[in-house]
Amino acid sequence: MSLSGAGMTNIDMNLLVDFSYLISACLFIVGLKLQNRVRTARRGNFLSAFGMLLAIVVTLLLPEVVNYSVIFLMLAMGSAVGFLLAVNVRMTAMPQMVALLNGFGGLASALVSSSEFLRQGTAADTISLVTTMLGVFVGAITFTGSVLAYAKLEGWVEQQPVTFPLQQVLNLILALACLALGVILTGDRNAAWAFWMIAIISSVLGVLLVLPIGGADMPVVISLLNSYSGIAAAITGFVLMNKVLIVAGALVGASGIILCQIMCQAMNRSLVNVMFGGFGKVEGGTASKDGEYTSVKSCTSDEAALVLDGAQNIIIVPGYGLAAGRAQHSIRELQKLLESKGAAVKYAIHPVAGRMPGHMNILLAEAEVPYEQLYEMNDINPEFEQADVALVVGANDVTNPVARTERGSPIYGMPILDVDKARSVIVIKRSLSPGFAGIKNPLFEKENTMMFFADAKAGIDSLAKELKNL
Ligand code: TAP
Repeated sequence: MSLSGAGMTNIDMNLLVDFSYLISACLFIVGLKLQNRVRTARRGNFLSAFGMLLAIVVTLLLPEVVNYSVIFLMLAMGSAVGFLLAVNVRMTAMPQMVALLNGFGGLASALVSSSEFLRQGTAADTISLVTTMLGVFVGAITFTGSVLAYAKLEGWVEQQPVTFPLQQVLNLILALACLALGVILTGDRNAAWAFWMIAIISSVLGVLLVLPIGGADMPVVISLLNSYSGIAAAITGFVLMNKVLIVAGALVGASGIILCQIMCQAMNRSLVNVMFGGFGKVEGGTASKDGEYTSVKSCTSDEAALVLDGAQNIIIVPGYGLAAGRAQHSIRELQKLLESKGAAVKYAIHPVAGRMPGHMNILLAEAEVPYEQLYEMNDINPEFEQADVALVVGANDVTNPVARTERGSPIYGMPILDVDKARSVIVIKRSLSPGFAGIKNPLFEKENTMMFFADAKAGIDSLAKELKNL
């Protein structure tokens, strides 16, 4: 039974819905704002989720909803799958999870647009028709692109950029074909085949757009696909004339693009370079090899522990290897041990350390490292000169000094952490293998650097063991 049947007029109902949508939209905006700061991010997430719950509940009360059984069945199934995925996902697999969720958003938009197209049939006015075509176009690209991004990150398909001659020309032709099909369908409402051709071609286009992007660039692409899924949702909002969907979609669309921009700036690359540059593609072995290093000083855990034991100011620099080695709890224990010996310990967080935005913050928060000890790059950089030890754990590119000096380097111009300015540098990583950018890191050869070759977790645990014995 709908509320209108329970005594509320449709006008009252619409007012209640609009008012609730307004509150939901405000909650989304305030939630997003709060997510800007580590300290308030959880509250922001909760507020946004509450806004979404309110929007869903109010939408279910609309007089147009006549049958709840299918909706509740789907809600129960979707919630169960979402819950299981969220509980079981590994922290390092978070980018894949986001890719999958974006994909589902795109698929939902494509399906809603398709069903609206079928429902309206030849009676559709031009605006509705164009909106449904746009919905299926953006939704299908988002879906197949996200599924490929997921498969690349899971290692199910080749992570290297896949490029072939005239790739971008082919993409352009496919996009123009969709435009031409749209014009045909607008001119002749009976040409339903054109709608389904748009769905097929845009699905192929989604795959072709993600193929030339390397696995490690996926976070930027996922953020872009996130933006697309928002645009698709906003278009669906126009298809269904649902205001909160338009607002939520627009917010997702805009924040996805802003996040892409932030990531690109932090890597000193343009979005065009990420999308079409084939960055990370190893041609003829351009990646650096262990043999290129000539004067590396390696150390054992007891030697590294001795250096740390005498240090008063220690800056820990986490990177991708900390995540890969799942060493966040170990580093937290080491930090507590160093503090119990009188050292002041801070963490230096580079905006693109790891493989996804906020990767290090999430990991360290999981290990309950106090927020006050996490310092952003610009705040911590002036402090390296006074630091006794910079302890680099699984970080590479974000500490590479060539970013300051070598014009031809792929990371030239990328802001880095000034680790090399610390009195002593201890680097924990397994070998001299390069990081994501595939280049040599002269930091490893510097006079004040000691390389402690170990897996992040095993290395930190052995350091802690040695320190306890000192
Ligand atoms: P990277 O430069 O990728 O270096 C990570 C290092 O971790 C590797 O050199 C690797 O060396 C080491 N490592 C891997 N597994 C390890 C383990 N189990 N234990 C110890 N060490 C391990 O990482 P970074 O310094 O964090 O820089 C991130 C890079 O990713 C940047 O180039 C950035 O532009 C790029 N990127 C980041 C993002 C975001 S949003 N964060 C998005 C796209 C691209 P070994 O194999 O020798 O151990």
